[in-house]
Amino acid sequence: MNRRRFLKAGALGSLGVAGQAIASNGNLTLGLQTPTEIEGPFYPLIAQQDTDFDLTKVKGRKAKALGQHIVIHGVVIDTEDNPIEGATVDLWQANAAGRYSHPHDPNPAPVDDNFQGWAIVPSGRNGEFRFSTVFPGIYPVGGGWSRPPHIHFKVTKKGYIELTTQMYFPEQPLNKIDRLLQRKSKEEQKLMIAEKSSDKPNTFYYRIIVEKA
Ligand SMILES: [Fe+2]
Repeated sequence: MNRRRFLKAGALGSLGVAGQAIASNGNLTLGLQTPTEIEGPFYPLIAQQDTDFDLTKVKGRKAKALGQHIVIHGVVIDTEDNPIEGATVDLWQANAAGRYSHPHDPNPAPVDDNFQGWAIVPSGRNGEFRFSTVFPGIYPVGGGWSRPPHIHFKVTKKGYIELTTQMYFPEQPLNKIDRLLQRKSKEEQKLMIAEKSSDKPNTFYYRIIVEKA
């Protein structure tokens, strides 16, 4: 967290004048951005033809990916709540068994050849993006540590600071003991955990907030 971000978070935490204005405005994230997180070792190495928004199927293959199929939709906005059109949302994740399609993943869990694993989706007119995928599996990291289900994101757009982060899912017991997520403040964790859609099953909402360069 750089000094500017820290000061912003501090102002919100203490609910100073700015904080009150934010609270009455009903938008508690105004002024904050999505916290950064490490890229991790499994950013795709091998180019693939199919990087579209539907990760549950791979071009040229009939069978669908194994696991629980879910939809993630959301928006890319700036710290003043303005939608950002044409941002590149680059995302990658483990399959339902917790295995990345990556040559250096030591997890013995099977690769799913019908799972795309990686997508690059642009944000649309109102900053919106959407993709279909599988609920990512838990995987061991060593030392008794297992990562909770998560999706890696890299979000870029000219004029904005590149954001690399990890998105988590609500109500996951491993969130509470994850060594990465638990380094974040409660407020930051909220910004990193997607919301469950109240009216649509298997659907999650995730807001990505980037900062102007
Ligand atoms: Fe990961």
